[in-house]
Amino acid sequence: MDKNYDEFDKYAMKYDMNEEMIVYKYNHSYRVVHQAEEICRSIDLDNVERDLASLIALLHDIARFRQWTEYKTFKDKDSFDHGEEGAKILFEEGEINNYDCDKADYEIIRKAIVNHNKYIIEDGLNDRELLHSKIIRDADKIDILYAFSTWRLLEITNDDSEISDDVRKQFYEHKPIDRKLIKTVNDRALGKFSLVFDLNYDYSIERIYEEGYIDKIYEGMKNKSIFKEFYDETIKYLKKRCKDVRK
Ligand SMILES: [Fe+2]
Repeated sequence: MDKNYDEFDKYAMKYDMNEEMIVYKYNHSYRVVHQAEEICRSIDLDNVERDLASLIALLHDIARFRQWTEYKTFKDKDSFDHGEEGAKILFEEGEINNYDCDKADYEIIRKAIVNHNKYIIEDGLNDRELLHSKIIRDADKIDILYAFSTWRLLEITNDDSEISDDVRKQFYEHKPIDRKLIKTVNDRALGKFSLVFDLNYDYSIERIYEEGYIDKIYEGMKNKSIFKEFYDETIKYLKKRCKDVRK
């Protein structure tokens, strides 16, 4: 993997490392590698799968550097779908050729990156494509929650706006909030809590619960009265799933 880390660093360093958000995405990529490796360990995957999961994690947000540089946003709807753009950079523009990996795995890498930021994983993936899509989605979510629980840089914006009915309904059905339903600032904020409803691995659930990411995010919110019921529901859900794991 060392060569791959060097290649990734070379790619990232072409962008402006004085930009806080560029540095954030660079560090996020490495933290997601770590989380992907932890997930692999938790489900006893061999080294071949672990190396592949690490590479996917390293590259999953490769389009974020271009996105921030060109659009100064990480909102896909205001720029481009960063999963699709990542696949384009790697496989159409040929960036993947710089990395050490088996060409036979290119399609797994492509599909995992395209699917990492979608509401749900597309149908029709084979076993390994599905496995790696699930790993990167969990690893990414763990770090997103960690990051929002830690840095003011990424403070979750919340105000006095209502939670929309459709969003509330989806939340209580324990589904992640579909971006298409988001109408208010608080709908978007609630979307962060709802990431826990879309975790595939016990490790991810336990990590998020034990590290208290949801508690820390809630503590940092300005408008706790609106979010109290959703915070309670999220913690209840995490606790129950942790208990199920330990049975
Ligand atoms: Fe991403």
